[in-house]
Amino acid sequence: MTGRGMFLTFEGIDGSGKSTQARMLAEHLRLSGHEVVLTREPGGSPGAEEIRRLVLEGDPDRWSAETEILLFTAARRDHLERTIEPALAEGKIVICDRFADSTRMYQGLSRGDLRAIVDQLHQLMIRREPDLTLLIDMDPETGLARAKGRHGGEERFEDFGPDLQRRMRKGFLELAEEFPERFRVIDGNRDMDSVSRDVTQIALQALQQN
Ligand code: ADP
Ligand code: TYD
Repeated sequence: MTGRGMFLTFEGIDGSGKSTQARMLAEHLRLSGHEVVLTREPGGSPGAEEIRRLVLEGDPDRWSAETEILLFTAARRDHLERTIEPALAEGKIVICDRFADSTRMYQGLSRGDLRAIVDQLHQLMIRREPDLTLLIDMDPETGLARAKGRHGGEERFEDFGPDLQRRMRKGFLELAEEFPERFRVIDGNRDMDSVSRDVTQIALQALQQN
Protein backbone atom coordinates (compact mmCIF):
# COMPACT_ATOMS: atom_id res chain seq x y z
CA MET A 1 0.00 0.00 0.00
CA THR A 2 1.06 3.55 -0.73
CA GLY A 3 0.06 4.94 2.66
CA ARG A 4 -3.16 6.27 1.16
CA GLY A 5 -6.13 4.66 2.88
CA MET A 6 -9.00 3.14 1.04
CA PHE A 7 -12.68 3.42 1.92
CA LEU A 8 -14.82 0.53 0.76
CA THR A 9 -18.54 0.10 1.44
CA PHE A 10 -21.08 -2.69 1.07
CA GLU A 11 -24.65 -1.85 0.13
CA GLY A 12 -27.80 -3.78 -0.69
CA ILE A 13 -31.16 -4.79 0.71
CA ASP A 14 -31.55 -6.47 4.12
CA GLY A 15 -30.35 -10.06 4.06
CA SER A 16 -28.34 -9.72 0.84
CA GLY A 17 -25.16 -10.91 2.56
CA LYS A 18 -23.36 -7.60 3.15
CA SER A 19 -22.17 -8.39 6.69
CA THR A 20 -21.04 -11.86 5.66
CA GLN A 21 -19.11 -10.55 2.67
CA ALA A 22 -17.63 -7.61 4.58
CA ARG A 23 -16.29 -10.04 7.19
CA MET A 24 -14.89 -12.45 4.59
CA LEU A 25 -13.17 -9.64 2.68
CA ALA A 26 -11.67 -8.20 5.88
CA GLU A 27 -10.24 -11.63 6.79
CA HIS A 28 -8.85 -12.15 3.31
CA LEU A 29 -7.14 -8.75 3.19
CA ARG A 30 -5.72 -9.13 6.71
CA LEU A 31 -4.23 -12.49 5.75
CA SER A 32 -2.50 -10.82 2.85
CA GLY A 33 -0.94 -8.26 5.19
CA HIS A 34 -3.26 -5.26 4.98
CA GLU A 35 -4.38 -3.26 7.97
CA VAL A 36 -8.18 -3.36 7.91
CA VAL A 37 -10.86 -1.65 9.99
CA LEU A 38 -14.18 -3.48 9.68
CA THR A 39 -17.10 -1.32 10.70
CA ARG A 40 -20.82 -0.77 10.10
CA GLU A 41 -23.64 1.75 9.98
CA PRO A 42 -25.63 2.83 11.77
CA GLY A 43 -22.91 2.51 14.40
CA GLY A 44 -19.16 2.02 14.27
CA SER A 45 -18.28 4.38 17.15
CA PRO A 46 -19.62 4.38 20.74
CA GLY A 47 -21.88 7.40 20.18
CA ALA A 48 -23.17 6.13 16.84
CA GLU A 49 -23.93 2.72 18.39
CA GLU A 50 -26.15 4.52 20.91
CA ILE A 51 -27.98 6.25 18.07
CA ARG A 52 -28.30 2.84 16.35
CA ARG A 53 -30.47 1.63 19.20
CA LEU A 54 -32.67 4.71 18.90
CA VAL A 55 -33.26 4.28 15.18
CA LEU A 56 -33.51 0.50 14.84
CA GLU A 57 -35.56 -0.52 17.85
CA GLY A 58 -39.18 0.16 18.64
CA ASP A 59 -42.30 1.23 16.81
CA PRO A 60 -41.99 1.85 13.03
CA ASP A 61 -43.70 5.24 13.58
CA ARG A 62 -41.33 6.24 16.34
CA TRP A 63 -39.59 8.94 14.22
CA SER A 64 -40.73 11.10 11.34
CA ALA A 65 -38.81 10.62 8.11
CA GLU A 66 -37.07 13.98 8.59
CA THR A 67 -36.00 13.22 12.17
CA GLU A 68 -34.69 9.89 10.99
CA ILE A 69 -32.49 11.59 8.38
CA LEU A 70 -31.01 13.76 11.14
CA LEU A 71 -30.38 10.77 13.42
CA PHE A 72 -28.65 8.69 10.74
CA THR A 73 -26.57 11.69 9.70
CA ALA A 74 -25.61 12.46 13.32
CA ALA A 75 -24.51 8.85 13.75
CA ARG A 76 -22.53 9.00 10.48
CA ARG A 77 -20.78 12.24 11.45
CA ASP A 78 -19.59 10.72 14.74
CA HIS A 79 -18.52 7.50 12.99
CA LEU A 80 -16.61 9.50 10.38
CA GLU A 81 -14.84 11.73 12.92
CA ARG A 82 -13.89 9.02 15.36
CA THR A 83 -13.41 5.85 13.35
CA ILE A 84 -13.29 6.27 9.57
CA GLU A 85 -11.19 9.42 9.00
CA PRO A 86 -8.50 8.52 11.60
CA ALA A 87 -8.10 5.03 10.07
CA LEU A 88 -7.86 6.40 6.52
CA ALA A 89 -5.31 8.98 7.68
CA GLU A 90 -3.17 6.08 8.95
CA GLY A 91 -3.35 4.45 5.52
CA LYS A 92 -5.70 1.64 6.58
CA ILE A 93 -8.43 -0.01 4.54
CA VAL A 94 -11.84 0.79 5.99
CA ILE A 95 -14.59 -1.69 5.13
CA CYS A 96 -18.01 -0.39 6.09
CA ASP A 97 -21.27 -2.37 6.08
CA ARG A 98 -23.66 0.33 4.72
CA PHE A 99 -22.96 4.07 4.47
CA ALA A 100 -24.57 7.18 2.94
CA ASP A 101 -26.08 5.27 0.01
CA SER A 102 -28.35 3.51 2.52
CA THR A 103 -29.69 6.89 3.68
CA ARG A 104 -30.17 7.96 0.05
CA MET A 105 -32.31 4.84 -0.36
CA TYR A 106 -34.11 4.18 2.92
CA GLN A 107 -34.70 7.74 4.11
CA GLY A 108 -34.63 9.25 0.62
CA LEU A 109 -37.17 6.92 -0.96
CA SER A 110 -39.17 4.87 1.52
CA ARG A 111 -41.49 7.56 2.91
CA GLY A 112 -41.92 10.04 0.08
CA ASP A 113 -39.26 11.64 -2.07
CA LEU A 114 -36.80 13.10 0.43
CA ARG A 115 -33.67 12.48 -1.60
CA ALA A 116 -32.94 16.21 -2.04
CA ILE A 117 -32.95 16.73 1.75
CA VAL A 118 -30.72 13.69 2.25
CA ASP A 119 -28.27 15.03 -0.35
CA GLN A 120 -28.23 18.52 1.15
CA LEU A 121 -27.51 17.25 4.64
CA HIS A 122 -24.84 14.91 3.28
CA GLN A 123 -23.17 17.83 1.50
CA LEU A 124 -23.28 19.93 4.65
CA MET A 125 -22.18 17.37 7.23
CA ILE A 126 -20.51 14.35 5.62
CA ARG A 127 -19.19 15.00 2.10
CA ARG A 128 -16.98 11.88 2.11
CA GLU A 129 -17.84 9.26 -0.53
CA PRO A 130 -16.39 5.74 -0.65
CA ASP A 131 -13.56 4.87 -3.06
CA LEU A 132 -15.43 1.68 -3.92
CA THR A 133 -19.00 0.52 -3.24
CA LEU A 134 -19.93 -3.14 -3.65
CA LEU A 135 -23.65 -3.54 -4.24
CA ILE A 136 -24.79 -7.07 -3.44
CA ASP A 137 -27.84 -7.38 -5.66
CA MET A 138 -30.39 -10.08 -4.96
CA ASP A 139 -33.92 -11.29 -5.13
CA PRO A 140 -35.96 -9.40 -2.46
CA GLU A 141 -37.95 -12.44 -1.25
CA THR A 142 -34.80 -14.45 -0.57
CA GLY A 143 -33.21 -11.46 1.14
CA LEU A 144 -36.21 -10.98 3.39
CA ALA A 145 -36.30 -14.68 4.30
CA ARG A 146 -32.61 -14.57 5.21
CA ALA A 147 -33.04 -11.38 7.24
CA LYS A 148 -36.04 -12.80 9.11
CA GLY A 149 -34.00 -15.90 9.94
CA ARG A 150 -31.84 -13.78 12.23
CA HIS A 151 -32.70 -13.00 15.83
CA GLY A 152 -32.89 -9.70 17.66
CA GLY A 153 -35.06 -6.66 18.23
CA GLU A 154 -33.76 -4.52 15.35
CA GLU A 155 -36.87 -4.82 13.27
CA ARG A 156 -38.14 -1.32 12.51
CA PHE A 157 -37.15 -1.49 8.84
CA GLU A 158 -37.51 -5.19 8.18
CA ASP A 159 -41.11 -4.82 9.37
CA PHE A 160 -41.83 -2.68 6.31
CA GLY A 161 -41.98 -5.90 4.26
CA PRO A 162 -41.42 -7.20 0.70
CA ASP A 163 -42.73 -4.15 -1.15
CA LEU A 164 -40.11 -1.92 0.45
CA GLN A 165 -37.42 -4.53 -0.30
CA ARG A 166 -38.39 -4.49 -4.00
CA ARG A 167 -38.31 -0.71 -4.19
CA MET A 168 -34.98 -0.61 -2.40
CA ARG A 169 -33.46 -3.16 -4.77
CA LYS A 170 -34.54 -1.09 -7.77
CA GLY A 171 -33.32 2.10 -6.10
CA PHE A 172 -29.88 0.64 -5.36
CA LEU A 173 -29.48 -0.49 -8.98
CA GLU A 174 -30.38 3.04 -10.13
CA LEU A 175 -27.89 4.48 -7.66
CA ALA A 176 -25.18 2.25 -9.17
CA GLU A 177 -25.93 3.87 -12.54
CA GLU A 178 -25.86 7.32 -10.97
CA PHE A 179 -22.35 6.75 -9.53
CA PRO A 180 -20.78 4.29 -12.00
CA GLU A 181 -17.20 5.30 -11.15
CA ARG A 182 -17.36 3.85 -7.63
CA PHE A 183 -20.16 1.23 -7.76
CA ARG A 184 -19.71 -2.44 -8.72
CA VAL A 185 -22.80 -4.68 -8.79
CA ILE A 186 -22.36 -8.29 -7.61
CA ASP A 187 -24.89 -11.10 -8.04
CA GLY A 188 -25.77 -12.16 -4.47
CA ASN A 189 -28.05 -15.06 -5.49
CA ARG A 190 -25.20 -17.55 -5.20
CA ASP A 191 -23.35 -19.41 -2.44
CA MET A 192 -21.16 -17.32 -0.13
CA ASP A 193 -17.85 -18.49 -1.58
CA SER A 194 -18.80 -17.63 -5.17
CA VAL A 195 -19.94 -14.17 -4.12
CA SER A 196 -16.77 -13.76 -2.06
CA ARG A 197 -14.51 -14.64 -5.00
CA ASP A 198 -16.00 -11.78 -7.04
CA VAL A 199 -15.82 -9.40 -4.08
CA THR A 200 -12.14 -10.20 -3.46
CA GLN A 201 -11.20 -9.84 -7.11
CA ILE A 202 -12.88 -6.43 -7.45
CA ALA A 203 -11.40 -5.17 -4.16
CA LEU A 204 -7.86 -6.29 -5.04
CA GLN A 205 -8.10 -4.63 -8.43
CA ALA A 206 -9.25 -1.37 -6.81
CA LEU A 207 -6.39 -1.57 -4.28
CA GLN A 208 -3.85 -1.92 -7.07
CA GLN A 209 -5.22 1.20 -8.74
CA ASN A 210 -5.40 3.13 -5.45
P1 ADP B 1 -26.99 -8.47 5.42
O1 ADP B 1 -25.82 -7.95 6.22
O2 ADP B 1 -26.94 -8.00 4.00
O3 ADP B 1 -28.32 -8.23 6.04
P2 ADP B 1 -26.02 -11.09 6.24
O4 ADP B 1 -24.62 -11.19 5.80
O5 ADP B 1 -26.29 -10.80 7.67
O6 ADP B 1 -26.81 -10.04 5.31
O7 ADP B 1 -26.76 -12.44 5.81
C1 ADP B 1 -28.10 -12.72 6.17
C2 ADP B 1 -28.24 -14.20 6.47
O8 ADP B 1 -28.05 -14.96 5.27
C3 ADP B 1 -27.21 -14.73 7.46
O9 ADP B 1 -27.82 -15.71 8.26
C4 ADP B 1 -26.13 -15.34 6.58
O10 ADP B 1 -25.46 -16.39 7.22
C5 ADP B 1 -26.92 -15.82 5.37
N1 ADP B 1 -26.17 -15.70 4.10
C6 ADP B 1 -25.30 -14.74 3.74
N2 ADP B 1 -24.83 -14.92 2.48
C7 ADP B 1 -25.43 -16.05 2.02
C8 ADP B 1 -25.38 -16.79 0.76
N3 ADP B 1 -24.62 -16.38 -0.26
N4 ADP B 1 -26.14 -17.88 0.65
C9 ADP B 1 -26.95 -18.28 1.68
N5 ADP B 1 -27.05 -17.66 2.88
C10 ADP B 1 -26.30 -16.55 3.05
P1 TYD C 1 -28.21 -3.39 9.00
O1 TYD C 1 -27.83 -3.72 10.38
O2 TYD C 1 -27.15 -3.30 7.98
O3 TYD C 1 -29.34 -4.42 8.55
P2 TYD C 1 -29.24 -5.65 7.60
O4 TYD C 1 -28.07 -6.47 8.08
O5 TYD C 1 -30.57 -6.31 7.81
O6 TYD C 1 -29.06 -5.14 6.21
O7 TYD C 1 -29.03 -2.05 8.96
C1 TYD C 1 -30.17 -1.93 9.72
C2 TYD C 1 -31.24 -1.18 9.02
O8 TYD C 1 -30.93 0.21 8.98
C3 TYD C 1 -31.52 -1.61 7.60
O9 TYD C 1 -32.87 -2.01 7.53
C4 TYD C 1 -31.31 -0.37 6.79
C5 TYD C 1 -31.40 0.75 7.79
N1 TYD C 1 -30.62 1.95 7.46
C6 TYD C 1 -31.28 3.10 7.08
O10 TYD C 1 -32.51 3.12 6.99
N2 TYD C 1 -30.56 4.22 6.79
C7 TYD C 1 -29.20 4.27 6.88
O11 TYD C 1 -28.58 5.31 6.62
C8 TYD C 1 -28.51 3.07 7.29
C9 TYD C 1 -27.03 3.06 7.39
C10 TYD C 1 -29.26 1.93 7.57
